[in-house]
Amino acid sequence: MPEVILIAAIAQTNGVIGDRGKLPWSIPEDLQRFRKLTLHHTVIMGRKTWEFDLQKRPLPHRKNVIVSSQFLKSNLPNVEFVRSLSEVLDCSDEKLFVIGGASIYRQALEFVDRMELTIVEGDYTGDIFFLEWRDCLSEFELVKSEQRNGYRFETYCR
Ligand SMILES: NC(=O)c1ccc[n+]([C@@H]2O[C@H](COP(=O)([O-])OP(=O)(O)OC[C@H]3O[C@@H](n4cnc5c(N)ncnc54)[C@H](OP(=O)(O)O)[C@@H]3O)[C@@H](O)[C@H]2O)c1
Repeated sequence: MPEVILIAAIAQTNGVIGDRGKLPWSIPEDLQRFRKLTLHHTVIMGRKTWEFDLQKRPLPHRKNVIVSSQFLKSNLPNVEFVRSLSEVLDCSDEKLFVIGGASIYRQALEFVDRMELTIVEGDYTGDIFFLEWRDCLSEFELVKSEQRNGYRFETYCR
């Protein structure tokens, strides 16, 4: 079984993670950390994150797996569509990174071994929220926290 890692940036005050298909903030260090952690691994995302956030451009040097109920196909290298999360969770990869959005985070939570979170301080407006991570924190241990100016990186292990 692969290690399942949820990676997300979340507004601390209200759990916002997205605004009209985009991240509500611009934090270059967060993007660098995301790249460093996910590089050469499989990333799993929902169809909306693929279309609106990534604009149908695969993340380079990673296997991009997109969950959709539709029969979608791509000729792009390193892009694969699946029709359910379980299809991916059964694979033989060493690590699987669940990269959002909210609907995929929610469904993956019960399978998650580790969470790599960026907690963004301050108020942000948005239209997509991911608050459920707080509900399961008792099942996880905070193993690392790195404070930055206006945000912090937190690692939780089950
Ligand atoms: N802050 C962060 O770290 C972060 C990370 C990623 C994304 N985001 C934000 O999150 C937002 C998108 O999140 P979202 O929840 O609206 O959408 P999403 O999770 O990206 O995609 C939802 C779509 O995934 C497919 N899907 C979900 N569960 C499925 C299942 N069990 N079986 C088959 N298909 C399934 C469906 O596609 P079909 O409709 O095609 O069936 C569904 O419409 C964007 O605003 C984005 O910017 C934030």
